[in-house]
Formats: sequence, C-alpha cells, structure tokens
Amino acid sequence: MKFPLFVGCGIISIAALATSFMFDPTLDEAWLSWKSFHKKQYNERNANYRRMVWEDNMKYIANHNLEHSLGKHTFTIGMNQFGDLTAEEFKQYLNKFSKKESGNFTFKVFTANKNVELPLAVDWRPKGYVTPVKDQGQCGSCWAFSTTGVLEGQVFNKTGKLISLSEQYLMDCTRSVGNRGCNGGCKVQALLFIKENGINSEESYPYTAKDGDCKSNRDDIVATCKGVTIIPKNSEADLAAAVATVGPISVSIDAEHRSFMLYKSGIFYEPRCSSVNLDHEVLAVGYGTKNQKSYWIVKNSWGANWGNEGYVHMAKDMDNNCGIATSAVYPEV
Ligand SMILES: *[C@@H]1O[C@H](CO)[C@@H](O)[C@H](O)[C@H]1NC(C)=O
Ligand SMILES: *[C@@H]1O[C@H](CO)[C@@H](O)[C@H](O)[C@H]1NC(C)=O
Repeated sequence: MKFPLFVGCGIISIAALATSFMFDPTLDEAWLSWKSFHKKQYNERNANYRRMVWEDNMKYIANHNLEHSLGKHTFTIGMNQFGDLTAEEFKQYLNKFSKKESGNFTFKVFTANKNVELPLAVDWRPKGYVTPVKDQGQCGSCWAFSTTGVLEGQVFNKTGKLISLSEQYLMDCTRSVGNRGCNGGCKVQALLFIKENGINSEESYPYTAKDGDCKSNRDDIVATCKGVTIIPKNSEADLAAAVATVGPISVSIDAEHRSFMLYKSGIFYEPRCSSVNLDHEVLAVGYGTKNQKSYWIVKNSWGANWGNEGYVHMAKDMDNNCGIATSAVYPEV
C-alpha cells in the first residue's frame, strides 16, 4: 500500500491526509487512546503502517468475537500491547532457541502415583506458590520467566517463603551453558546452572529486558535446586498429576498465533497449533473445568494487562493442543 506524499504542503499534514483517505475514521479515538495507554510513539511514516496493522488486528478481533458469540470459539480476544504487530513481528517476543531442550542432560522422569485420586480442580495461586505476573518486555526471555516461576513454587514448598527470583541473573549468567539472553534459552540448562551456582533474588538482580554481563554476587544467592525432573512427553495425564501433587510446572507451548497474541478470556484452543514446534515458555499453575471443558491455568510473562490478568486458560485433554505437555519440567529443591 502506498501513502500519498505532499512535500512542502504547509496546510494539511501527511498524517491527516493518510488518515482521511486510508483509515476507518470511527477508529480514530480508539487508536489515540490505545497509543497513549501503551505509550506508543512513531515517526510519521511508521505511524501510518502501524495504524494499518492495528486496524487489521481490530477487524480480526471483532470478527473472532462475533464468531465467539455465535458459539464458534471457546475464548475471546482483545486489543493489547501487541496490537500494532503482525503475527510475523510478534515472533521476536517468543523463544527462538528452545530446540536445545533435547540436549544431553541428566534428569529424572516423573512417575505419577496411581493410587492418588487427582482433585477435579487445582490452583496454586491462593496457596502462596506463585509470584505476581511479570513482564518480559521486548525481549525473548520467556524461558527465564518460566524457570524462575517453577523454582519459586518449589522454594515456597520447601521453605514456606515466596521469593521472587531473578530472570536477569539467568539471562546474564547462563550464557556459559549456551543460553542467549533476549535471543532465547533453555529452561533445563538454566535449572542445571542453578543446581551448580544458585540464583539471585529479583530484588538484588532486577530485570532490565536487555542483555548484559553477569553481575552476580555469591552473597546474594537465595535459592538453589538439586536436579531436574521431566514429565513424560505428550502425557496430559502425567502433567495433571504433577501439577496436582508437585506444584506449578514449567511448560513449553506453541504461541505464535494471532489468536494467542490477542487472547483475552475463556479457554484458548487453536486448531492450527503445533504440539512439536514450541516457541514459548510459561508456567502451568493449576487446572479446572468450566461447562464440561477442561483447561490448564497458565501464567504468562507479558504483564498483567495481557490476557486474563496476565493468565491464559488453555484447552486441556484436547490432544495436547499447542504442545502444553510436550516439554514439562520442574526442579527438585
Ligand atoms: C552425555 O553425557 C555423558 C556424561 O557427561 C557422556 O558420558 C556421554 O558421552 C554424553 N553423550 C553424548 C551423546 O554427548
Ligand atoms: C510441600 O509439599 C508437600 C508434599 O506435597 C506437602 O505435604 C507440604 O504441605 C508442602 N508445603 C507447603 C509449605 O505447601
């Protein structure tokens, strides 16, 4: 799409012309308030392109939610901080480097106790196992948030203290084991690093959303782990047993769909999702059932304004949709 350029025109601005010719004027106010809420600033040319992408997302949202009201979907979507991104651009927020998960690691395999009947619903948040939702910002560091999240829960179980742990520490200090900070990483590598070296608190090593050098001080180590346990691959039954009996579990998912980027509420189910090509790390903190449909309660790291107060309910027992049970782990503390 080309925008008209009126060089030297002192009366009508280019942006105003583009708006009146190209854009839906009924969305002007929503665009302005969205930009101001998310503190978005563009130069004039970029603003036109961003408005176009944003309008396309607005139409996609309206269409999806209309279909939802007609019973076609189990979840709604809505405008959020990613509203000016195409699905392709959105990938920068995802993990570009989860393939290493299959490396040469020493770990235990979780075995569910078949004699224990699992509760119908589990939620570790009111039990004190889960820190408030964090925000990774414009950085592909989800793997670090998933790692701190699962360790925070197990440290709470062991000590009765909920200590927010440092993602920046993992980003800066685990390069030696192959992780790449904002360019992705592997949670198993991170946990094995913590086993050898411990981890700092969020407070002593705050998040910057930028790559940096390791500035860890041994005096600031607040937690460690003894090893890593893997949940049997692709088994939602084993994942449920682990979530019910161990605590929050670190999981990988396929998150690269526009429906996920703009998820708002309800049970997320994406038929186009892969169970193999996973690009995002999150934390399963429970599960439940609504209207005969089961879901996982999943903590994300895109701030509390994303999704359902920072969380997403993901379809459970729907053939491992989005690969939630493909690569699930927790540390022994
Ligand atoms: C995996 O690690 C073990 C122990 O460090 C080593 O003996 C073995 O050769 C490694 N295997 C591969 C395929 O790298
Ligand atoms: C830790 O987990 C064990 C075993 O599930 C449980 O008995 C104990 O109450 C938990 N501790 C806390 C503080 O929740």
